[in-house]
Amino acid sequence: MSKLKLFAIIWAMVVAIMAGFLYTPLPEGIEDPFGAIVFMAFWKILVRYPQLTREFFGQGRYLDNLEAMQIHIFQEDEMRPISSWFGGLNVTRSTIAGVPVIVYKHWDDEDADLRPGFVYFHGGGWIAASADVYDWTVYDIAMRTGVVAINVDYRLAPQHPFPAGFDDVVSVTRYILRHGKKFGIDVSRVGVAGDSAGGNLAAATALHLSKMSSDLPQLKYQVLLHPVLQGLTFRLPAHLDNAETFPILYAKHIAAFASIYLGLGGRNGEFHGTIFFENHHVSPEFRTKSKYAKYVDEKNLPEKYRTPKKTAPIINDSHNETIFQRIKSLIVDPRFSPLMADDLTKLPPTMVVVQKYDVLRDDGLLYAKRLRDSGVETVVHDGKGFHIDHLKLAPEFIHSKTGAKAVKDVCKFISRITRS
Ligand SMILES: *[C@@H]1O[C@H](CO)[C@@H](O)[C@H](O)[C@H]1NC(C)=O
Ligand SMILES: *[C@@H]1O[C@H](CO)[C@@H](O)[C@H](O)[C@H]1NC(C)=O
Ligand SMILES: *[C@@H]1O[C@H](CO)[C@@H](O)[C@H](O)[C@H]1NC(C)=O
Repeated sequence: MSKLKLFAIIWAMVVAIMAGFLYTPLPEGIEDPFGAIVFMAFWKILVRYPQLTREFFGQGRYLDNLEAMQIHIFQEDEMRPISSWFGGLNVTRSTIAGVPVIVYKHWDDEDADLRPGFVYFHGGGWIAASADVYDWTVYDIAMRTGVVAINVDYRLAPQHPFPAGFDDVVSVTRYILRHGKKFGIDVSRVGVAGDSAGGNLAAATALHLSKMSSDLPQLKYQVLLHPVLQGLTFRLPAHLDNAETFPILYAKHIAAFASIYLGLGGRNGEFHGTIFFENHHVSPEFRTKSKYAKYVDEKNLPEKYRTPKKTAPIINDSHNETIFQRIKSLIVDPRFSPLMADDLTKLPPTMVVVQKYDVLRDDGLLYAKRLRDSGVETVVHDGKGFHIDHLKLAPEFIHSKTGAKAVKDVCKFISRITRS
């Protein structure tokens, strides 16, 4: 065999093995399979395989070892944010109310009119990622809508459990509502936005500020992308159907992240994840008979999502009383669980983005239904994509199409609401 042939064979084998590692089996109805595979390949290289490698070398299981391995990818305070090299916007680091942020301003703003404001909270389960991971995403939205954007690096659990992250994002938002003019922001046109755990923080912030009778201007809008909005049950149809659909977020992960955010610690995440995922973190009476039960009633979901497609694993009715007593008041605290708030009527116009193949789909849909019933203008984008597919990891032509569509809709919503 010639050297060339041997080389070709070895090369083909390497490619095949790589493809095997990077391939993710996809649900049938997914709209953009290519985008999903590319996204998951990025995800596996940047996040999943480094985790597995650590586990292999005996550094503990991923969820059990969060204290030791804060996943602050790309976080480099001395480095310029990547998007500052793109040139379209003046992107700088700053600190607002003691919290690190990235600010996206427009070049022509010397004596231009004030612009709408957009305060963004990144995803990452309250325990991971950073403003820098979402740099490109926020830059993109600011470019397309003309807002001045503030991308917030709030504190993370387990080092800083609830309500540290919440306190940070509220402080930054209040500062912008009071002093936005310093950044060229019209304080009467400020909105909050976020995805996943950041969507939770955005919803909690909007709710908190809507209840304050202060001299601060009201928020103009909120945008919630695949938000986590409650922790009372982890067995809604979306949790069950998408429990292990995409490695980016398994149902057990979000259950574990919630336990860590609520202060159960960065160790034993696997154990707590299972307890929460099996709904053994609260008593069955509390979950099904308290006044909160109606907020997670599956009857409030759109018909097509009301019954799980997969057979759910059977669980028993026991619960861990120690854990329940520790988290009982937190689990229904609207600062953690906006869906558990009794009054949503004062909230600003809202956009909720959900994707069919996401474990958090039903959280968003239940909230949207309640918002509409409360008379709040609510736009829902219900796509056939996956969790955080709007996150821009690559140029447009390989950015997931379902994510790109969602971002387009979000920009349309922001432009319409802030026009005035
Ligand atoms: C960019 O923004 C920073 C911080 O707001 C400001 O100090 C700087 O003058 C701006 N640069 C230009 C060229 O406008
Ligand atoms: C209920 O299930 C949990 C875990 O799934 C198990 O640890 C526990 O022993 C079970 N309790 C009863 C009463 O069967
Ligand atoms: C309940 O959870 C705690 C940890 O928070 C654990 O120490 C305890 O063993 C659990 N109890 C049962 C019965 O599993």
